[in-house]
Amino acid sequence: MGLKETYEFESIINDITNHPKFLKLRQELHHGISRYEHSLRVAKMTYKISKKMNLDYERATRAALLHDFFLDEQTTEYNARKTFKIHPLIALENAKKCFDLDQKQENIIASHMFPVCNTLPKYKESYIVTLSDKLVATHEMYRYKAALMMGVYLIFLFNMISIQK
Ligand SMILES: [Fe+2]
Ligand SMILES: [Fe+2]
Repeated sequence: MGLKETYEFESIINDITNHPKFLKLRQELHHGISRYEHSLRVAKMTYKISKKMNLDYERATRAALLHDFFLDEQTTEYNARKTFKIHPLIALENAKKCFDLDQKQENIIASHMFPVCNTLPKYKESYIVTLSDKLVATHEMYRYKAALMMGVYLIFLFNMISIQK
């Protein structure tokens, strides 16, 4: 992204990325990195695509940033499968408490796990966010989770070798 676009992107998301509740996502592990970083990547991809397509890119970018706005402590009562399905609604509730959202933004957040969740994407921007999320997640899973697993494996191997000595 060029300097002008980076500046515009920052100005669109600035109040969210500085919000104390949103900053808590920095401590949440997600696809081998923090949920904060993951959300930022999805927001950036949404910004680029929706701007290029002349869509409502400012509001789409903000909603994209908020798509996974939840803490693990809010999902402890659910198993992994249920969390997969329900976390968009938890994120939506959290986002509504901290920021003003319009109907389109609410739909973007609630439907981002399409086709797994119960809410259907109603807008072009909703499809862009659900697609961006899947692309970014796939990239992160392979790049960061694999690197993380490799690190854990190496530590394990190192311990085994030192035990045998
Ligand atoms: Fe999600
Ligand atoms: Fe996500």
